[in-house]
Amino acid sequence: MVEFPEKFDSEEELDDFISEPSAQLIDLCRNWKGPTVVLGIAGKMGYHLGMMLVKARDRSGSSGEIIGVSRFSDSEARRKVEEAGIRTVAADLLSPDAAAGLPDAQRVVYMVGRKFGTAGSEELTWAVNTLIPQAVCRRYAGIPIVVYSTGAVYPRVPLESGGADESLPLTPLGEYANAAVGRERIFQYMSGVTGTPICLVRLFYAIDLRYGVLRDIGEKVASGETVDLNMGYVNVIWQGDAVNQSLLAFSQCAIPPRPLNVTGPEIISIRDTAERFAELLGRRAKFSGTPATDALLGKTDRTVGLFGPPRVSVEKMIVWVAEWIKAGGRGLNKPTHFETRNGDY
Ligand SMILES: NC(=O)c1ccc[n+]([C@@H]2O[C@H](COP(=O)([O-])OP(=O)(O)OC[C@H]3O[C@@H](n4cnc5c(N)ncnc54)[C@H](OP(=O)(O)O)[C@@H]3O)[C@@H](O)[C@H]2O)c1
Repeated sequence: MVEFPEKFDSEEELDDFISEPSAQLIDLCRNWKGPTVVLGIAGKMGYHLGMMLVKARDRSGSSGEIIGVSRFSDSEARRKVEEAGIRTVAADLLSPDAAAGLPDAQRVVYMVGRKFGTAGSEELTWAVNTLIPQAVCRRYAGIPIVVYSTGAVYPRVPLESGGADESLPLTPLGEYANAAVGRERIFQYMSGVTGTPICLVRLFYAIDLRYGVLRDIGEKVASGETVDLNMGYVNVIWQGDAVNQSLLAFSQCAIPPRPLNVTGPEIISIRDTAERFAELLGRRAKFSGTPATDALLGKTDRTVGLFGPPRVSVEKMIVWVAEWIKAGGRGLNKPTHFETRNGDY
């Protein structure tokens, strides 16, 4: 059992904690052999997922190289991934020949995506989210793939429903969310065509101290900016729990693909969260807008039934984010735009 710290004093400490695998994950990978390939490792979550794979492999006594693929547009991200003991392969997966050059794998995590910058370059978002999946399924035909999808594939649901479950029809607003539905549909189609078992992880808002919905709210309260309440409620999950649960999802890969909501079971109020930050930061929270009676929310009954609840509570995350902001901890400057209600990113 991992001890929860009061706060984090460095990014190394934070990265180490986020990438801590659960006993359940160590158990799952005990019999894994051969390479695990992580496509899109250079993003906000990939380093933690790669590190968690390394730790789970070493502690379970299993074998197999961990290999990370990305364009590595940020060379610092590549250095960090390699230092964690992960081999890297640079590839632009949109290029027609890229898939053929990918390393062999016994299992694949698919984290490639494009969201921000969609408005004005819609065609690129559709290309990344729907062309690459076809090439990947052909290259890794028959090999289990955990695919990072998003909770944004659902429409907004009434608050009293408690959230969308995995059977809700996928009718979201906006080009990004529809391209994410496209990504799922291509994986679903190609799963049948190529005999590839897949689990579609519909993730809602991972929380790191350097980015995420809580950092967005905490920063606004700390700097005296107004917090927009129009999207009044969200679900969030500690990034370490999100990564851990998505790796446990290898046990759920199937033909046809199974969708799985990954987020926290609590619906959190943006107003209450901002008030809690105000208390912790010694500031006054300012608000604009009125919470609507619907929001982008997901139910996690299926996932909690399979893997148990996330390890970290929302209150713990708020306290950690507040301490991090107070200490001047680095942020990624990548706001989530959780307040967006029209699907434009
Ligand atoms: N973080 C969240 O809270 C959250 C919530 C819901 C869903 N998701 C989804 O979960 C996945 C992982 O999340 P994330 O936050 O780590 O995403 P991210 O920061 O957007 O990372 C996406 C990754 O894809 C790579 N990539 C993009 N285009 C590529 C291409 N043509 N060829 C090769 N690699 C390419 C990028 O690295 P390079 O630029 O170096 O290639 C990057 O490593 C994404 O699909 C994201 O949309 C995340």
